[in-house]
Amino acid sequence: MRAVGVVPSRKEVRMLEHPAPSLSHANHVKIRTLDVGICGTDREICTFVYGAPPGGSDYLVLGHEALGRVVEVGSGVKKFKVGDYVVPSVRRPCPDPGCVPCRQDRQDFCSTWTFTERGINQYHGYMTEYFVDDEKYLTFVPPELRDIAVLVEPLTVAEKGLAQVWKTQQRLPWGGAKPGEPRGAGLNAVVLGAGPVGILGAMALKVNGFKTFVYSRSKKPNPKADLVESFGVEYISSEEVNVEDLAKKVGSIDLIYEAVGVPGITFDVMRALGINGVYVMTGIPAPKPPIPVAASEIMRNVVLKNQAIVGTVNADGDAFANAISDLGTFHQRWPKAVRQLITARHTLDNFEELLVGKAFGIKNVIAFE
Ligand code: BGC
Ligand code: ZN
Repeated sequence: MRAVGVVPSRKEVRMLEHPAPSLSHANHVKIRTLDVGICGTDREICTFVYGAPPGGSDYLVLGHEALGRVVEVGSGVKKFKVGDYVVPSVRRPCPDPGCVPCRQDRQDFCSTWTFTERGINQYHGYMTEYFVDDEKYLTFVPPELRDIAVLVEPLTVAEKGLAQVWKTQQRLPWGGAKPGEPRGAGLNAVVLGAGPVGILGAMALKVNGFKTFVYSRSKKPNPKADLVESFGVEYISSEEVNVEDLAKKVGSIDLIYEAVGVPGITFDVMRALGINGVYVMTGIPAPKPPIPVAASEIMRNVVLKNQAIVGTVNADGDAFANAISDLGTFHQRWPKAVRQLITARHTLDNFEELLVGKAFGIKNVIAFE
């Protein structure tokens, strides 16, 4: 089969010939790849600072954001039939019998650090014609979401992040939402960054009732600002409102959702977090030398304002199920905006421009059909 991947030993990003997979377990499902999203992680792997091929292979097939259609099911498969649309998850558990999270299907919390990740870390990904996986790593996609379901995986970052926020905020000694109100009602959230993870996060926060803002560099007007404002989220440019003034504009910031991956900005904005607030980090920056941060201000705030800082990496089965359900809500409420997240669909032959060329748009997708 044709596949796109990296050969780290030769520092090559290229088209590969990859063997077609077959079912080797009763719970296996064979899937025809339909769409694969390109993200910052893929582009980073193509600079060879991140990612690794499976043991014994000199290449890694890329691709971890996928939508496919079931073409064959093993004798033990219960959840799927041929023709179903499915989205696969990324992380696979470590083999250690003593890893409590992995043995409970929570490899997103793997405690041995020997998990694998499809298309990223020691496990081939989905940027190829077919793939096989255990049914437990697949989530059903309703046919009406076929055109946008490639956004599910990046949306799971926000879903898992939000689940962590609710757990974290159980530390506060009063109850959650009032009956009939979404959990974020009355709370202010700031999303840092206007890439796909940021915009999908802003949609998820909005659906959860937060008064939501996106804080990003470019001045208004710009296409991403127009897009977020089209679904009722205010866009604030950091060139126009500095971190000191952010809370004056927003009000007390109860939640900051970092989706920018840049350490300097991430720590600078931490200064604006409000009383009892929670700061969620999702970005994975490449290793860089240390930088100065406003450490005493941040530390004073964290203590005196009871703040929490949580990292989140995706994702568990619930996060995938919630992402499908929220994507359905976005599709009903903001059909145009959600489609605009997909910048363009390309053929596999276009891989070089997408992976090593200049980044453009929001979410570029490789379509196999
Ligand atoms: C993927 C995650 C993965 C992370 C770290 C992200 O781009 O969406 O599933 O865990 O990279 O490798
Ligand atoms: Zn990704």
